[in-house]
Amino acid sequence: MKPECSDTPGQREPTSVIMSDADFAAFAQLIHAKTGIVINDAKRSMLVSRLSRRLRDLGLRDFGSYRKLLASGGDAKEHGAFISAITTNVTSFFREPGHFDVLAGMVPDFAARAQAGDRIRIWSAGCSSGEEPYSIAMTLKENWATLDRADLRILATDIDPGMVATARRGIYTAQQVGEDPSALLRQNVKRQSDGGDFAIDPSLRHNLRFEELNLLGPWPFNGMFDVIFCRNVVIYFDAPTRMGLWRRFAERLRPGGTLFVGHSERVDGDLENLLEPAGVTQYRRTDHPASASYSRASA
Ligand SMILES: C[S@@+](CC[C@H](N)C(=O)[O-])C[C@H]1O[C@@H](n2cnc3c(N)ncnc32)[C@H](O)[C@@H]1O
Repeated sequence: MKPECSDTPGQREPTSVIMSDADFAAFAQLIHAKTGIVINDAKRSMLVSRLSRRLRDLGLRDFGSYRKLLASGGDAKEHGAFISAITTNVTSFFREPGHFDVLAGMVPDFAARAQAGDRIRIWSAGCSSGEEPYSIAMTLKENWATLDRADLRILATDIDPGMVATARRGIYTAQQVGEDPSALLRQNVKRQSDGGDFAIDPSLRHNLRFEELNLLGPWPFNGMFDVIFCRNVVIYFDAPTRMGLWRRFAERLRPGGTLFVGHSERVDGDLENLLEPAGVTQYRRTDHPASASYSRASA
């Protein structure tokens, strides 16, 4: 897995491959346009290192050739590999555990509403290799006795096709499970017969769907969500991209619904009181009517 901010020692750019200022500017622009991720000078060596691996794998001699390959647009597989190379996918089970305690506290309300015929919808937006949505599923399974009878769906999406495939597989190394996993995590993973990796309990998959999705593109679903987790994703975005996304999330939350963000993230910008703080990294969708798109989506 790619580390959060820097690359592993020993996997550095081959000294012979130099990225010109023009190539750097072009890649930074392309990455921003495609993903919203901002690559500034401080991230230049990380970018060079990660893209050098693409050059090696493709047998290309320089970054200019790689730019041309991407610009030709014909190679969808390479487009995915490019996205995988530039995204940072650090995650873990029950990361920022307080959010899962809050989620557990929502279960009585979910259960009552589900019994009255409501759908409950949760979105893990920027789910990386799946630990976040599986942690959501484990929390609900543990706390919701009548879950099997509820109309619950958890949607988990990420822009990185490699991560979505990993998340779907649901197989994790001992390191990913951790040296001292919680009792809840232990109950929901099983060591594979070869004694190596751990597989996620199949019961967690019933209500869980993984999809590739660029948060900056169209969202091909109409429903409203009760809870959205978008944690440690917007830290890589600039302010206009971030604020646009907050608004879109607010428009997709039911009144009273919750948005969880990462520990170093805050909802900012003018959202016309659509979201109000309900904790340091937790926001509640208010009852204020939003834009026309909100009215349409909730109809
Ligand atoms: C650091 S991980 C966070 C994973 C998880 N939410 C957590 O907090 O542990 C950030 C994820 O955001 C995804 N991402 C970055 N830009 C994205 C975009 N424009 N659309 C969707 N996902 C994106 C990356 O691929 C990566 O898997």
